[in-house]
Amino acid sequence: MNKENPIKREGFATSLGVIAATLGSAVGLGNIWKFPYMTGENGGAAFILLYLGATLLVGLPIMISEFIIGRRAQKAAVGAYRKLAPDKPWFLTGLAGVLAAILIMSFYTNVAGWVFAYAFKAATGGIAINSPESAKEVFDSLAGGVWEPLVWQWITLVLTGTVILAGVRGGIERMTKTLLPILFVLLIAYDIRALTLPGAAQGLEFLFKPDFSKITELTVLLALGLAFFKLSVGVGTMTTYGSYIGQGESLPGTALKVMFSDILVSIMAGLAIFPAVFAFGFAPESGPPLLFFTIPMVFNAMPLGQFFLAVFFILTSIAATGAMISLLEVPVAYLHEELRFSRRIATIISVLVIAALGSTATLSGSALAEFTILGRNMFDLQDFLSSNVLMPIGGIFIALFAGWKLGSRVIFDEATNQGTLNNNSFLAVYTFIVRYVAPVAIVVVLLYGLGIIKA
Ligand code: PHE
Repeated sequence: MNKENPIKREGFATSLGVIAATLGSAVGLGNIWKFPYMTGENGGAAFILLYLGATLLVGLPIMISEFIIGRRAQKAAVGAYRKLAPDKPWFLTGLAGVLAAILIMSFYTNVAGWVFAYAFKAATGGIAINSPESAKEVFDSLAGGVWEPLVWQWITLVLTGTVILAGVRGGIERMTKTLLPILFVLLIAYDIRALTLPGAAQGLEFLFKPDFSKITELTVLLALGLAFFKLSVGVGTMTTYGSYIGQGESLPGTALKVMFSDILVSIMAGLAIFPAVFAFGFAPESGPPLLFFTIPMVFNAMPLGQFFLAVFFILTSIAATGAMISLLEVPVAYLHEELRFSRRIATIISVLVIAALGSTATLSGSALAEFTILGRNMFDLQDFLSSNVLMPIGGIFIALFAGWKLGSRVIFDEATNQGTLNNNSFLAVYTFIVRYVAPVAIVVVLLYGLGIIKA
């Protein structure tokens, strides 16, 4: 049937598997680590509102577009453009995505390594935290080390590589389907605990009462970057996963479910963390370590505290794993489908490249602490470049491709499954957004946020 592509393609087997894999990609450190600390650094509820706006107007339509592009082409991120627009430079969008996915994985596995380390230490009784100061010390001694964080980072990579090697169904789908439900149940338990802390009300106020005085052009760009990062869009992840989604699934429906559930998880993570920030006198703007300061304190004075602490970080490891799987799948699928490496070799190459680049992020807590480019250390640089530059730029081209190049017939067919779903009014709104609103909004936010244009 598929003459020009002899590689047999696997896809997700069930509707539940589609949701588990795509939601498993979206839900991750972005919800539990990044969303809370960015909200803390950028003024709380006002930032959340910006982030929600960016999610609805930009993140969601781009996720739908990526699904459409991937499923239509039956190819991963780079090949999809090659197939749908042969002899045109659109495939560069896919290539940029592969680079961005590698860059994200580099610092992501650093943080995931910290999370795995905390899970292990708590489970073996190795985290003695009884004051805010000791919470900081424990974190600094891990993140400021050399071999310890590196080894944890490599463990996360090997684990992710193993799942990827097990394939789309046996690896990605099976793993995420098992893990996601556990995550939801545990988060609810943690919210209950955090909300009963003395001082919880202040945390709630911070999360839900907007103060717009903290908003600048850069904040808007950061909120947009978070929306991309959260929904795993702009780097080809959802294009690649889209190519594994069966013809009977509703693509807009899947995207909507993923978006709502993902926001829910972020808010639940915020509810678990901010009451503790205020109860124990941490600064909301503590930055990336925020999660690692607050959560140990929440459980410190509690019966079975170490146990719950271990479970919390295991839960976070689980969330990170679904996202890492989807990130690693982007370069692996590219090397496999386009450059014809076996999946095994493609995985090994990708893991090694990420380990090398990722080490520079991890060492920015120690040996490379003084090494900066554009005023940022390697960790911050990789994060900033991917979330706030490459993902938005990828988003512009994905939206333009869907809005102007694919043609309304293809969009209609994919969004309605050949006219069997009635999504007509939705389609009109979607088309308007990907043609005009999303590209213009991203360009404007990028230009102001990067300081290229001043207000
Ligand atoms: N969405 C993931 C998270 O929030 C991160 C991610 C970004 C995953 C891009 C895939 C692609 O943790």
